[in-house]
Amino acid sequence: MSKPTLDHIGIAVESLAKGVEFYEALGLDLEGVEEVVEQGVKVGFLPVGDARLELLEPTGPSSPIAKHLERRGPGLHHVCLRVDDIRGAMAALAERGHRLLSDEPRRGAHGCLVCFVHPKSTGGVLLELTQPADAIHDE
Ligand code: CO
Repeated sequence: MSKPTLDHIGIAVESLAKGVEFYEALGLDLEGVEEVVEQGVKVGFLPVGDARLELLEPTGPSSPIAKHLERRGPGLHHVCLRVDDIRGAMAALAERGHRLLSDEPRRGAHGCLVCFVHPKSTGGVLLELTQPADAIHDE
């Protein structure tokens, strides 16, 4: 298992257009927008070096992002680390008593596998782990 790298930082926004406009003023480019229907979000990706900013706008009131905006307002939502063996990483955390939000990784954007680690385990940050599709060999 090689060391994790920073994949993206998820930021909850009320307006994707306004968020994108801000980062474009800094010279970043919007790489694409994707709607994740089952999560009720519209996601805009802006590459920053090898990582990306992931701006998350809710598409409906039941979206977890809508709830986050209600409770905490816009801002940092999660940090995502890229790993090459998500099941191994999950097992290593579970073994040490850390709290994962699911027992099995789920399918994320672009066919990758993802899982979330509870902020209680990480020291207050919702942590996403992702294994890119090109590193999945075991299915
Ligand atoms: Co994410």
